[in-house]
Amino acid sequence: MIRWLARSGLLPACLLLASCNNWQSALDTHGPAAFSLKQLIIFIVATCSIVWALVMVGMIYALWRRRGAQRPAADVLPARERRIGRVVTALVGLTAIIIAIFTLASFVTTHALSVAGPDDLTVRVRGLQWWWSVEYTGPDPSRRFETANEIHIPVGRNVHLLLEGDDVIHSFWVPSLAGKQDLIPGRLNEITIRADRAGTYRGQCAEFCGLQHAHMAFLVIAEQPADFERWADAQRAPATQTSDEEIAAGRDVFMAKACAGCHTIRGTQAAGTPGPDLTHVGGRRTIAAGLFETTRGSLAAWIADPQTLKPGNNMPLVPLTPDELRAVSAYLASLK
Ligand code: CUA
Repeated sequence: MIRWLARSGLLPACLLLASCNNWQSALDTHGPAAFSLKQLIIFIVATCSIVWALVMVGMIYALWRRRGAQRPAADVLPARERRIGRVVTALVGLTAIIIAIFTLASFVTTHALSVAGPDDLTVRVRGLQWWWSVEYTGPDPSRRFETANEIHIPVGRNVHLLLEGDDVIHSFWVPSLAGKQDLIPGRLNEITIRADRAGTYRGQCAEFCGLQHAHMAFLVIAEQPADFERWADAQRAPATQTSDEEIAAGRDVFMAKACAGCHTIRGTQAAGTPGPDLTHVGGRRTIAAGLFETTRGSLAAWIADPQTLKPGNNMPLVPLTPDELRAVSAYLASLK
């Protein structure tokens, strides 16, 4: 069966369809923006398919009619030529009308995606090579906080995202919830997302932005409003303190080494900004923009050799002894 599919050229199509699950698919929609985009896709694909089928039928009919004809193709009667001219003009007109309808439908659909309402939650997302900084803003400074590579949203509420590139152009895309929007340095773009159902939706940078473009993923976690508020309150809090000896040793190593110069851990003296805020890194599902599930082991592997795991990224190798590495990874994993 597989061999037949490969020979017939259908295998790539089957693989594409097989990847359409709710993890990351524009055809499995969970929000109004993605749903209207899906309708637009279906409308355009269906119209193009009908046009293609009609062209094929016309071509087969023309070939069939010409079978056995003796006259050269250029030898056409004037009356017949006029008729052909009228048909071609009508078809060109129809093509122009179809293109105009497509353009209007695309404009109306995509324009509705970035309209903000007064009750929207506002989140500022910055794209960097190759991770996402996520800042929950708002009028009250005490309620703002920052995280990375993971956007939590309350189910059923519009979330207005302010998007900006920090170095090169990136593109924000979470197919199950909304369309794509570019993050451009020096310009603020907007998009509104909403999830109608709780769930975890994968997003991905959709604009080639350098060596690790493929490893620039993020998660949108939609939860019930009460769960979201609990999460947000926990994120606002400074890093957890502990009396565990190994974790405390890890914290001391982190503060003494170069780590603290690049990362912020609120509630400690680490206030670096080039890298992701790590205040609650242990509570995030993945590290390094979706590269690994967050575990103490993956944190240790990442710290031990970030350039082999994600070549070209900005995290330098900080030389640590095995004991220091164990302690630092225990400390970061404890930051829930
Ligand atoms: Cu960022 Cu591709």
